[in-house]
Amino acid sequence: MHTGTATSKSGVIARYREYLPVTDSTPIISLGEGSTPLVFCPRLSEHVGRAVFVKNEGANPTGSFKDRGMTVAVSKAMERNAKALICASTGNTSASAAAYAARAGITCAVVLPAGKIAMGKLLQAFACGAKIIALEGNFDDALRIVRELGEQRDLAIVNSINPDRIAGQKTAAFEVVDDLGDAPDFHLLPVGNAGNISAYWAGYREYHARGKSAKLPAMIGFQAAGAAPIFYNRIVEKPETVASAIRIGNPASWKQACSAIAESDGAIDLVTDEEILAAQTWLAQHEGIFVEPASAAPVAGLFKCRDSEETAYSIQKVPEESKIVCTVTGHGLKDPDIITAQMKELKSVPATLNDVRRAVGL
Ligand code: F0G
Repeated sequence: MHTGTATSKSGVIARYREYLPVTDSTPIISLGEGSTPLVFCPRLSEHVGRAVFVKNEGANPTGSFKDRGMTVAVSKAMERNAKALICASTGNTSASAAAYAARAGITCAVVLPAGKIAMGKLLQAFACGAKIIALEGNFDDALRIVRELGEQRDLAIVNSINPDRIAGQKTAAFEVVDDLGDAPDFHLLPVGNAGNISAYWAGYREYHARGKSAKLPAMIGFQAAGAAPIFYNRIVEKPETVASAIRIGNPASWKQACSAIAESDGAIDLVTDEEILAAQTWLAQHEGIFVEPASAAPVAGLFKCRDSEETAYSIQKVPEESKIVCTVTGHGLKDPDIITAQMKELKSVPATLNDVRRAVGL
């Protein structure tokens, strides 16, 4: 069997090998992840008065940023002869782990909060043949149990507590710098378990240290109002938000996220479910980028920064030539329930030119 990468030059390990913990003896498990579009958004820029780019991570093979870390974590797990992969997840990690496990030919078990996973993500894990464990508990309970299981058995944990995941995810920051020619001034992203904000900051710092960028961005994280432990500086026992991907009350990378925010002169803030859903619709209808609710959090945050003097970062106060990047982390098709509920039942029209012309109404 040919075991090379999806194509010879695709995938984050092929592109950024010298920055990643792989050697000649690491079998590379890749689905051609990374190299996602950094999209300049004219309407969003006009709306906030600064140049805004969206890093569209929904364009990864399983539709979320998790694939960047998963290619490294699964490659390293195979190098170490792991017997199986295991993860806790709010959905996307499980979808990614299931796909990369299938590619590697290894068993994968995913521990998920019962009844709390968006349908598209659950489908992905099922389709790729993962063993799905529906836990009577939340994500924080799932991660606690996975940690304990991983210690007892020969299982590779592929959550972001695995440093190989973070190493892979930092490549998104490299790509932003490669595309813009320098780091942006502000980087906004959603925060759940807080691995991604930590990974981006590690990536920006590493590229800066290697002379690839002249500046470093301020990292600005957004949590959902009902699941904002870092913002409130206390564990949230029963996190609640419509953005199920970031429904997390005790983030594993809490400390690292706080360091990223402090070192970068950044901030942590929160956005309400209403703001998240409004931003999701706005981005789809004004820029053509359809993302899942959690991914709309930084866009909601950007609007909040623009509109308020009091929020962590008032966009009005930053220099006009500032560049802002928002990472949108997952594809909208993964979590369609809320949008589906907004769709009115479609009335069919007879198959005649006149009926269609009337229905188009233009
Ligand atoms: N956006 C999406 C779409 C996510 O799936 C996640 C995390 C985040 C943002 C937050 O990233 O955890 O690094 O701060 N999803 C994890 C999962 C928890 O299990 O799929 P983070």
